[in-house]
Amino acid sequence: MHAQRQGGPATPETAVHPPRRVTSFRSRRAALSEPQQEVWDRLWPVLGRQAIPSGTEHGDPIERLDTAAWFHRSAPLICEIGCGTGTSTLAMAQSEPHIDVIAVEVYRRGLAQLLSAIDREGGPNIRLLRGDGLDVLEHLVGPESLTGVRVFFPDPWPKSRHHKRRLLQPTTIALIADRLRPGGVLHAATDHAGYAEQIAEAGDGEPMLRRVQPGEALPVSVQRPATKYESKARVAGSAVTELLWVRRP
Ligand SMILES: C[S@@+](CC[C@H](N)C(=O)[O-])C[C@H]1O[C@@H](n2cnc3c(N)ncnc32)[C@H](O)[C@@H]1O
Repeated sequence: MHAQRQGGPATPETAVHPPRRVTSFRSRRAALSEPQQEVWDRLWPVLGRQAIPSGTEHGDPIERLDTAAWFHRSAPLICEIGCGTGTSTLAMAQSEPHIDVIAVEVYRRGLAQLLSAIDREGGPNIRLLRGDGLDVLEHLVGPESLTGVRVFFPDPWPKSRHHKRRLLQPTTIALIADRLRPGGVLHAATDHAGYAEQIAEAGDGEPMLRRVQPGEALPVSVQRPATKYESKARVAGSAVTELLWVRRP
């Protein structure tokens, strides 16, 4: 279970900022290069935003995202949590221009790399959120609002005393299932065998989800390009497990 997440999915249009929880990420500080900073200053105000605005206090209301206004259209929506430097995000968004993608990451330099790639190559259907994906799921998107949730290579937290930090716990998977629309897809991948088992058990145990059948038609692509992280895992000899569920009607 996600140790300190409070309450279930929020139902009203606004929700209340949660108390601090055990996080699934490490804090990493890395300065942006000069070109990254230039792109950040130019594009972040348009394409990015802080998931929970700084200065928000516990108890302050948090407004849901108005995605139609942000993307300037209404389209099926995917949320990718922990996009890293955004390699998969960009390639998958480019291959599905009819779908909108929100890339969520706490690591600013990762988001800056994605912004620079969008600046070079385009990616009009991508927006970026900086912050904890759990906050995004709990407060910024509503029930049955997502056509897909992607979580590729979530930090495995291999030591048993750190397992409580793993992002894909049963409570998180229940929250994801609630945010998916019927027919929506949860797509996870990991190179950590123990974590793969845990995710499989949690997904199979979630009543709102069922496994994708071989050859089943899906509303979103499940073709992923290999990221740098994944390539390193493969070189180190780790098998990659792909996990796919569909939200039941
Ligand atoms: C191992 S990396 C994988 C990155 C990318 N998905 C890939 O395949 O290359 C995991 C990423 O998830 C991010 N992360 C972990 N927990 C998160 C959370 N709760 N919300 C947003 N990002 C998170 C970390 O900052 C890190 O960049």
